[in-house]
Amino acid sequence: MREISVFSGGNFADDLAAICKQSKTAAAWSAKDFQTEAAQETSKIFIMIENQNDVKTILGFCAVRFACDTAEITNFAILPEAQRKHFGTEIFTHTLNFLKEKGVKEVTLEVSSANIPAQAFYKKFKFACVSIRKKFYNMGEDAQILKLNL
Ligand SMILES: CC(C)(COP(=O)(O)OP(=O)(O)OC[C@H]1O[C@@H](n2cnc3c(N)ncnc32)[C@H](O)[C@@H]1OP(=O)(O)O)[C@@H](O)C(=O)NCCC(=O)NCCS
Repeated sequence: MREISVFSGGNFADDLAAICKQSKTAAAWSAKDFQTEAAQETSKIFIMIENQNDVKTILGFCAVRFACDTAEITNFAILPEAQRKHFGTEIFTHTLNFLKEKGVKEVTLEVSSANIPAQAFYKKFKFACVSIRKKFYNMGEDAQILKLNL
């Protein structure tokens, strides 16, 4: 059985940090970073949990910050072996629905110009590139700022 819930700072911080370590293109958050982020009032971290015979596995997460009618996706990843099964689509849709209910009108995020899978993913959600930060990352890749009007 699979469910989406909110990470509130307790169990699973290590699992979430491990997903970041494995998914090189996610932001490199530590367990402590997840705990700190979860404690912010203007932040939400949705997690997808698979429960098989009482063994729980975190399949992925989507972290967002919001204020008034704007929001930013701050980190997002699916466990490498669980990718391309539409789990990303499921948790991302859940996050956007949450933001809509909060009255958010505009969602932004940053993606590396080298991260073709993530760009394809966001294109499917109709995000548009609104600006480029040249050589933003360590390896010299540009950062694309994408925006979606909800
Ligand atoms: C981006 C990410 C979260 C997508 O999660 P996912 O569960 O694999 O994505 P989905 O299965 O829901 O894919 C939805 C659509 O996105 C596109 N897409 C996803 N992965 C893709 C890939 N590797 N290559 C091309 N298109 C891809 C496809 O259009 C796909 O639809 P389709 O499978 O029907 O063709 C995942 O690739 C990931 O964790 N990447 C590493 C971390 C990362 O880069 N995070 C984003 C930082 S900005």
